[in-house]
This record gives sequence, structure tokens and C-alpha cells, in this order.
Amino acid sequence: MSATSDTSIGPQRVLVTGGAGFIGSHTCVELIESGHDVVVVDDLSAGHAAALDRVREITGTRPVFERVDITDAAALDAVFRRHSVDAIIHFAARKAVGESTEIPLDYFDTNVGGTASLLAAARRAGVHRIVFSSSCSIYGSTGAHDLDESAPTAPANPYAWSKLACEQMIEQACRYHDEQRAVSLRYFNPIGAHPSGLLGEDPHGTPRNVVPYLAQVAVGRRERLQVFGGDYPTPDGSAIRDYVHVVDIARGHVAALDHVDDQPGMQLFNLGTGQGTSVLELRAAFAAAADRDIPYVVVDRRAGDVPRLVADIGAVRRAWSWKPEYDLATMCRDAWRFQKSHPEGYRR
Ligand code: UD1
Repeated sequence: MSATSDTSIGPQRVLVTGGAGFIGSHTCVELIESGHDVVVVDDLSAGHAAALDRVREITGTRPVFERVDITDAAALDAVFRRHSVDAIIHFAARKAVGESTEIPLDYFDTNVGGTASLLAAARRAGVHRIVFSSSCSIYGSTGAHDLDESAPTAPANPYAWSKLACEQMIEQACRYHDEQRAVSLRYFNPIGAHPSGLLGEDPHGTPRNVVPYLAQVAVGRRERLQVFGGDYPTPDGSAIRDYVHVVDIARGHVAALDHVDDQPGMQLFNLGTGQGTSVLELRAAFAAAADRDIPYVVVDRRAGDVPRLVADIGAVRRAWSWKPEYDLATMCRDAWRFQKSHPEGYRR
């Protein structure tokens, strides 16, 4: 495992909100394999209870599961009463950029309201460590440079605004409550699946993100990929992102837990690979992994998209020795392995 640490704080009982979702379920696996106990809080609006069964198949342990909406303060208090928790990893959120422009207030309600409710309940329970799931989208539009954590924030949609508001709330909590410790992880584009083929990405409804869509084209559920924009100022005209394996992201959370006590205040790190890949390059890599043609058509740009988002990951490498282990071919191979064996997702 690449996320090495000299300062491990030992086995913890960790409350994982959104633990039945894509990144959350992969993080449960890495936590359990690192010796931690896991309590999942999820309302199953986007996650799958079956993912927790898969966590058990992989690790031998099914996380304790509490079906709770994080905006329900009384239910959260009851969870904290039932389980003595040392730390929180907070994933539960709405995450579709396009949808956030249609129902912005729901995004603020779940993401910002939910985080406020969680922080308050944690405080009542005496739990002062939190690792927060943030997003590169809060950097907004940028030029050709890779983004380090000092890049200005410029959210371009309500989803991104909601993530920035959560970061600010957590930072203020750290500032005025001496015992509060926090790490915010700004992920770039997590893709791939667990190498066992048992856990993967299974969005409800039509996929909004590019890899689940590509995978469903490859497996025959959809006709062709629409490439959003062929006239970006990039070498092939399609937009560039920093795709990172979900297992590397999950291990980043285990490292964050090990280091959450390192310093007061909120620590902030990018998690990506530092490698940019265009949509057309990604399509080609996925077609190679699946060993089949993936039809596509170039259409207009998608509202709210930016030409290029690539991480500078120097800070997290220096601080924790975390570095991504898997390349793009492996990300595509693993995503395809899950899709091929679960053409209809967890409902197979
Ligand atoms: C966005 C957010 C990211 C967030 C993620 C969660 C931004 C800039 N980034 O990622 O922070 O964590 O959503 O959902 O807001 N594409 C196609 N065809 C498709 C789908 C996508 O060409 O059918 C293209 C997009 O235009 C984009 C790239 O593929 O250039 C990646 O898109 P997507 O997977 O949706 O992720 P982001 O929008 O980059």
C-alpha cells in the first residue's frame, strides 16, 4: 500500500457517512484492511446496501450499517449514542454538477445542512476528528497550470459552492474549537473499481459521469458516448481531467485518518495523479481495456465544464508519502471488470 505513515494513531472506530456509495464503500475496505472498525451511515439515496455485502466478501467483515439521513439531527444523535466513535469520514452528499444547477437549494440542504448537522452531533458526542470529501471543482476554471492547494477558489456551480461552504464551515469550527481536527481532501476524478471485481460504480439512472457512461456503452446498455465539446484549447479538442483510481483515493482517507492529529486547524490536500487525460484519450484507453470499439460522437460542450483540471499533488506526497499507485490502463481495466460482471450493476 502506498499510503505509508509513521504516525498512525492505531485502530479506530470510524463513522463513514455515505459508506454505501462508490468512494465510501472502497474506503470501508481499506479501513477494515488497515485494522479499523467501521460504522456506515447512509440513506441509500445513491448508495447500495449490496455494496456493504461486497465489503464483507472482500474483507470478511460487514460494516455496521445505520440507515440514516445526515440532515436528521435526532437520528444522528442516536447513532452516536449507540456507537462509540473515534473519528468521522464524511462522504454523504449530492454530487451531480448538472443537477445542482436545477435544484441548487437541495444541494445546499443536503451538503451544507447535512455537514452542519453532522458536525454538531459529533460535537455533542465528543467526537472531534473529521476527514471531509471535497472536490477539485471548487477551483473553477483554470489555465494550463496544474493546481496546487493555494490556487484561488472559483466554484462554477452550486455543487462546487456547497463543497467550498462545507470546507469553510469545518475550517471555522477548527478555528474556534481548539480540540477540533480536520482534513479536507479535494479529489480530482475518481474512477476504476476494486480489483476483485466485487465493488464498483453503479449510479442510479443514466450515468452523469464519463466512465460509468463509457462502461455502459461498452457493455451494450447504451449506444454511444457523447463527447461533450471538441473545440477546447487542448491537443485533441476534448476536455482534460486528472483521473485517479478509487482505491488510491480510498487509501488517501486511511492516510488522512493517520495524520488528522498532526496539526491544529484544517489540513487541505489534493488527491489526483498529476496526469491529464482528454475525453478522447480516455475513450481509447477504455476501448483497449474492454477490447472492443466504443462508438462516440462529438457534441456541444456541457454547461459548467472547464477545459482542463489537473492536480499538483506535491503537498500530499511530501506530508504523508501518499502517492497514487495505479495508472489509467489499470483504472479502465478494473472499471471494465466490474461492469462486465455486473451489466445491470448490483441488481444483477
Ligand atoms: C465533476 C466535478 C468533480 C466532481 C464530479 C462528481 C467539476 C469541474 N468537476 O467532475 O469535482 O467530483 O463531477 O460527479 O465540476 N463527459 C463527456 N461525456 C459524458 C460525460 C462526461 O464527454 O457523457 C466529459 C465531461 O465533459 C468532462 C469529462 O468527461 O470533460 C469528465 O466528466 P465527469 O465524469 O462528469 O466529471 P467532471 O465533470 O470532471
